[in-house]
Amino acid sequence: MKRYAIAGTGARARYMFALPIVQTWKDTACLTGLYDPNRTRAQRLSEECGGIPVFTSFDAMLAESRPDTVIVATIDSMHHDYIIRAMQAGCDVISEKPLTIDADKCRAILKAERDTGRQVIVTFNARYNPYVTRIKELLVSGAIGRVTHVHFEWSLDLSHGADYYRRWHRRLEHSGGLLVHKSTHHFDVINWWLDQEPEEVYAYGDRHFYGPTRQQTGIRCTTCAYSEDCEFYLDLERDPILRAYYKEGESEDGYMRDACVFSEEIDIYDTMSLNVKYKNRTTLNYSLLSYSPFEGWRATLHGTKGRLQAEVFTSGSRADDPYNTVTLYDHAGGVVMHPVKKRSGGHGGSDSLLQRMLFQSGSDDPLGQQAGSRAGALSLCVGAAANISIAERRPVSLGELLQEEMG
Ligand SMILES: NC(=O)c1ccc[n+]([C@@H]2O[C@H](COP(=O)([O-])OP(=O)(O)OC[C@H]3O[C@@H](n4cnc5c(N)ncnc54)[C@H](O)[C@@H]3O)[C@@H](O)[C@H]2O)c1
Repeated sequence: MKRYAIAGTGARARYMFALPIVQTWKDTACLTGLYDPNRTRAQRLSEECGGIPVFTSFDAMLAESRPDTVIVATIDSMHHDYIIRAMQAGCDVISEKPLTIDADKCRAILKAERDTGRQVIVTFNARYNPYVTRIKELLVSGAIGRVTHVHFEWSLDLSHGADYYRRWHRRLEHSGGLLVHKSTHHFDVINWWLDQEPEEVYAYGDRHFYGPTRQQTGIRCTTCAYSEDCEFYLDLERDPILRAYYKEGESEDGYMRDACVFSEEIDIYDTMSLNVKYKNRTTLNYSLLSYSPFEGWRATLHGTKGRLQAEVFTSGSRADDPYNTVTLYDHAGGVVMHPVKKRSGGHGGSDSLLQRMLFQSGSDDPLGQQAGSRAGALSLCVGAAANISIAERRPVSLGELLQEEMG
């Protein structure tokens, strides 16, 4: 039985790792300890998990709970610290995405992994979404030949999108912005589909919707004079998890879960577009918008033998379609549709499939879905390169960021 300890006991740690380990995977996995600088959140999670020990320091958790693997689910900018300390203490690591937020921290993680001989897994659950997996299978089978160009757009709606501007994500220093925090999923999926490594990035980013774009603002929803009229009002009292984990823990660290999405403090972009060139000359057009009327994504891949089209709606009128369809076009006019049945559960059913890969020993992995530090590094560094490109108005190579660490 493998022993796991968790650093960072917020929402993701709760529903993706702690509760599933103690409820579903208790025959193969044992949760030995919890650590979060916010004692309220750690204590709440401990109570929900039947009294798992809470530690006042990460080092004490490592020493006393003796985990084989540390699960890192803190805010993004702190991942590197816990990943490196866990490996130096002899543990393997499961890190939430993004691996970290910039190239310096990334190189430090890769070096520690090499020096200690331990292993980092990055939880790219998007690879386990059945529709994304089906596209990988079709590409591996040569359905459109060698892929030469990818067009990929992702839209966040006003519910999901706005939530990034309420919390720590709204500062580049905590999340790397959405080009790292969110797009790491998308860049990883594209890198995995192509089985190629990105080489150079040129990007644009701006804010048009969130940040100081209206006059009726407050510090936070709880105390806001405009709460009755604001479409972004969030009532922390109405949701028992938001109340118990965040509202009741505020006095410890000042983390406001309902900060105003129109704050001047916001420095991440809400409108992003970029181009990537891969080492084998495949090119990618990518965009991410966080204020769309509906949520979903669209991908068009061209190859030497045809075209693949994919489209997903996760909110709005088409979100309840029972299938997502992959459409293949060939140069002779042929069209083939591949409907893929939607799966229920977190993130399109991908969370539970990833849990099975993580916590059930001996799981097969014919498509290479389990992602390690190299995949984590390559996807986050596309976003990190994009952030530099936006700031400095120039193309940025991944070699410049990762240097000798990537070989
Ligand atoms: N794979 C996915 O689909 C997915 C979905 C959501 C979140 N995530 C990732 O999970 C992680 C947690 O996100 P969340 O939504 O649970 O956020 P959250 O705000 O709910 O939780 C973050 C936790 O980190 C803790 N923290 C803050 N500073 C810390 C420090 N210095 N040391 C240790 N812990 C610290 C906070 O107290 C909080 O409990 C993030 O890395 C996020 O990117 C992944």
